[in-house]
Amino acid sequence: MVLSLKERSDIMILPNLKETQKRTKNAVKTIEYSIDDKYVNLGKGKTYFIKTYGCQMNEHDTENIKAILEQMAFTEAEDMEKADLILLNTCAIRENAHNKVFGMVGRIKHLKESKPDIIVGLCGCMVQEEVVALEIKNKYKWLDIVFGTHNINNLPSLLNNFLKEKKLNLEVFSIEGDIIENMPAKRDSKYKAWVNIMYGCDKFCTYCIVPYTRGKQRSRKPEAIINEVKELKNKGYKEVTLLGQNVNAYGKDLDSSYDMSNLLEDVSKTGIERVRFVTSHPWDFTDEMIEVIKKYPNIMPYIHLPLQSGSNRILKLMGRRYTKESYLNLYNKLKKAMPNCSITTDIIVGFPTETEEDFNETLDVVNKCKFDSAFTFIFSARVGTPAAKMKDDTPLKIKEQRLYKLNELINKYALERNKEYLNKTVPVLLEGVSEKNEDLLMGYTDTMKLVNVKAPKKMLGLVASVKITDVKTWSLDGETVK
Ligand code: 5AD
Ligand code: SF4
Repeated sequence: MVLSLKERSDIMILPNLKETQKRTKNAVKTIEYSIDDKYVNLGKGKTYFIKTYGCQMNEHDTENIKAILEQMAFTEAEDMEKADLILLNTCAIRENAHNKVFGMVGRIKHLKESKPDIIVGLCGCMVQEEVVALEIKNKYKWLDIVFGTHNINNLPSLLNNFLKEKKLNLEVFSIEGDIIENMPAKRDSKYKAWVNIMYGCDKFCTYCIVPYTRGKQRSRKPEAIINEVKELKNKGYKEVTLLGQNVNAYGKDLDSSYDMSNLLEDVSKTGIERVRFVTSHPWDFTDEMIEVIKKYPNIMPYIHLPLQSGSNRILKLMGRRYTKESYLNLYNKLKKAMPNCSITTDIIVGFPTETEEDFNETLDVVNKCKFDSAFTFIFSARVGTPAAKMKDDTPLKIKEQRLYKLNELINKYALERNKEYLNKTVPVLLEGVSEKNEDLLMGYTDTMKLVNVKAPKKMLGLVASVKITDVKTWSLDGETVK
């Protein structure tokens, strides 16, 4: 039975912007996830489909959500049109992420008109925003479940409530956040795995929505992380990527002096073949971390080091706590310690008040660093962040021109860096079939270069020695060597 909108009195816990800004010294609770027996058959005979937007953190959340749904006996549908439950795991980082989600919600509404029994849900960062939750409450009442980043573990009971009452269940908390241990994960890859080392962020860069959508910085206990890596290694995983909004600040919220350099060392000592970590903030990248990365061969020589801007005036307005000079200093230190390490970055153009002169400072850093690659963005005002209130009178057209110019330079250096690989033999974890040609395999070098490789399928899951035979701006071609 499907109740009409009039009959539905909806259950709502809405987020609140003021609350999400709060940071207290209250201890972080660790909650052990478990599923109540009464929920384990809820999804019997039903299928689900999840579409994920945003960063690796969100991708990993989706892996958790999938596993929870499978504990409830749901099975994964091949495509959205065939699913009984459709979930969109959303991202809030820029306006275009919003637009994509609402575009998809419109498509799903059509689907629900012809199949009223399908369950439709939204989760993730976007619904953590007060403005979005209110929009859902007012304009998207036909949605069935909505939950945020803090209560993925409540999914079974939310679904149960919905199935019983057929009322919109919107439950989005504005808390600083707990740590939920023991959540199951249905991992996308058999060879590489995401491992959360911390949640949330306390940096409050003035443009960024993440501290509001993901709560305060909470580091997982070292033992929990190391045990997870050991288990993954025992299951045959070759690579782990340690995940956090700002991994260098790992441990600063724990009652000990244990920090990211200690964690990297201990994770490396598990003997797993490859260790990666994202994302690093240039502000708290320590010399000890550099020493550890350099010392242990299974810690990959690849660092994602967001620059955001090369102008000291803009960096200050962004609240980034470093200068162009200190960024370059760190960059040079990393390259000196590990000459073959690759460094990629994120850059925002058109931050409020950015002048041509400021932009040229950014280009100057790019010319000096010759990044291996970069994600580049036009500033997007996020409601509730300080930067959204700053005067921004640069026309979009100028911002687009700056982005274009920046991308040209980024592409030039990406190709230049890739050319250094020609005829070299490099280690590649062969993880799948190439998207461009199904006779080829694909994988990433230690330095995170995508390579399409001539190799037999039986080599999947191995770290192979690959000779690079051709290079392009965004990928390399190669063949395995004995
Ligand atoms: N506008 C544009 N880009 C942003 N980023 C984060 N917030 C914004 C915003 N409001 C970019 C930053 C960050 C990356 C994940 O997204 O460059 O490093
Ligand atoms: Fe990830 Fe940030 Fe997007 Fe959330 S808002 S999904 S943390 S990129």
